[in-house]
Amino acid sequence: MIILRNIFKSFGEKHVHQGVNLEVRDRETLVILGKSGGGKSVLLKMIIGLLQPDSGSITVDGFEVTTMKYRELQKLRLKFGFLFQGAALFDSMTVGENIELALRRHSEYKESDISERVQYALELVKLHNVEHLMPSSISGGMKKRVGLARAIALTPKYMLYDEPTTGLDVETADGINLLMNELKTTLGVTSIVVTHDIHSAFVIGDRFAIFENGRFILTGTKEELRSSADPEVRKYIESEIQI
Ligand SMILES: Nc1ncnc2c1ncn2[C@@H]1O[C@H](COP(=O)(O)OP(=O)(O)OP(=O)(O)O)[C@@H](O)[C@H]1O
Ligand SMILES: [Mg+2]
Repeated sequence: MIILRNIFKSFGEKHVHQGVNLEVRDRETLVILGKSGGGKSVLLKMIIGLLQPDSGSITVDGFEVTTMKYRELQKLRLKFGFLFQGAALFDSMTVGENIELALRRHSEYKESDISERVQYALELVKLHNVEHLMPSSISGGMKKRVGLARAIALTPKYMLYDEPTTGLDVETADGINLLMNELKTTLGVTSIVVTHDIHSAFVIGDRFAIFENGRFILTGTKEELRSSADPEVRKYIESEIQI
């Protein structure tokens, strides 16, 4: 379980987080919706200790992240898979090498198990015979899948997805949605998904958290969103109806 309590974070005069509270329950997919530049990506980075809040508490499975030392943070990150926007693959390495590198750096897998692990992860995302390809020669949707494979290879308990379907056509995006749902059921991962894609949000999410002016103004199920009278919340529900 991940719990954020009363998080404040500013960059200079910019008060990005102003009392953020959030609970992510084990095995759920929680979708974060909110305006561009609001502070969603920073929030994900704070959960794995890449950025520090100015005040407040973040616990992962009961352990306080904000006071962790380097070694403890390294251990914490073993629990997480992170799909960055744009997949963030190294262009000078093949698809296979990208996944191998992540396993060598961020897991405790033995060298002799690594290539099997790469195969397993690529199979999970339904990519075949791509290990030797360079990222520049594959499509955007495939890159996302490779990014996903790289994260899954590490057997995370938690997955953090930052805009997993942004910039993809509807069909490719649906493929990614399907994969995220499969990972949840086959691996039992707990996920936080930041997205602007309302259709995707409702396909994959169990609960939704609406981020507005530095805090979550509502966290709940789709039904709870539907029954809210808050105009900021209604925007999301109404934009879904238009699809
Ligand atoms: N390392 C940093 N140093 C200074 N300012 C930063 C840093 N990281 C983020 N910010 C600022 O914090 C604010 C929130 O950024 P963040 O990337 O979290 O927004 P976001 O909600 O993810 O937006 P988007 O939906 O466009 O991805 C932005 O104004 C951004 O410029
Ligand atoms: Mg962002």
